[in-house]
Amino acid sequence: MTEALILSGKTVSHEVYNTLQSQIDSLKSSGCTPGLAVVLVGDDPASNVYVNSKARRFNKLGLFSETIRLPEDIGEDELLSKIQELNNDDRFHGILVQMPLPKHLNEAVIIEAVNPLKDVDGFHPENLGRLTAGRPRFVPCTPKGIMRILKHYNIDPSGKHVVVLGRSNIVGRPISILMSLKQTFSNATTTICHSGTADIPYHTLQADILIAAIGVPNFVTSSHIKEGAVIIDVGINRVEDDSEKGYRLVGDVYFDSVNEKVSAITPVPGGVGPMTIAMLVENTVEAAERLVSG
Ligand SMILES: NC(=O)c1ccc[n+]([C@@H]2O[C@H](COP(=O)([O-])OP(=O)(O)OC[C@H]3O[C@@H](n4cnc5c(N)ncnc54)[C@H](OP(=O)(O)O)[C@@H]3O)[C@@H](O)[C@H]2O)c1
Repeated sequence: MTEALILSGKTVSHEVYNTLQSQIDSLKSSGCTPGLAVVLVGDDPASNVYVNSKARRFNKLGLFSETIRLPEDIGEDELLSKIQELNNDDRFHGILVQMPLPKHLNEAVIIEAVNPLKDVDGFHPENLGRLTAGRPRFVPCTPKGIMRILKHYNIDPSGKHVVVLGRSNIVGRPISILMSLKQTFSNATTTICHSGTADIPYHTLQADILIAAIGVPNFVTSSHIKEGAVIIDVGINRVEDDSEKGYRLVGDVYFDSVNEKVSAITPVPGGVGPMTIAMLVENTVEAAERLVSG
């Protein structure tokens, strides 16, 4: 088999930013700077890295973003009233509550408190419901980014068998819904696997497109995949090594094991990760346009 095509989210994300710039400029010239509020509870190191890179990207594009840092032991009522305040603050067109939250806070209650019109993560049940009904408002950023990568490389899921590993509300479930919608560049036969699936390789070996989103480093190896499959590796896992940082990032797919068997694959880092931020920017710009046009 010839070498796999590397599906670069880095390249596609820059294309997205170039396209968005004119929309951003036109919103700004009409007096509206798209704004995002990021709520960060506690000081989880990985969440800090994500929040900082989101803020850097917003600043770079001339957008407004503010990170609201709240103490680890904040009560649910206090967090809910902070979200209410942000819902009513016109400077913010999007609100993102960084997950995971500390264990004493009920994530579902917090997500439902965000105004669905500002829910740029697309996690609110109203937005997930609209997606399921095929009338999406905000599509969750990581699944939206995956679809955009496939589109860029002209890999059409229509008529293909897509197998998704993982059923989280953030990645696995929404990407399986998007893939199965009756519309162009979807229309796939979709299988979703999880920790209750009896024989994962039985399913993954049938995948024309395999999407791995389980958070288990190097889980998928060449024995899981058929020759010529397309692999989307969503996983971002820290594994310890003897580098200066003390760790490196790896995906859910063992790249070196599958590389020669697949036709195309997203790398980690530089694959799905950059697209998640690009889609967050896109969703925030869309939210601003929607609110401006009433
Ligand atoms: N690239 C990005 O921008 C991006 C964005 C979000 C997440 N991620 C990464 O993607 C990965 C998944 O994230 P997530 O938020 O979806 O994780 P999550 O909420 O922990 O969900 C993991 C899913 O995988 C399933 N699972 C776990 N271990 C399994 C196993 N051994 N066999 C089969 N299924 C298994 C779980 O099954 P059950 O439902 O049965 O528990 C669950 O459905 C993580 O590495 C995360 O860091 C990356």
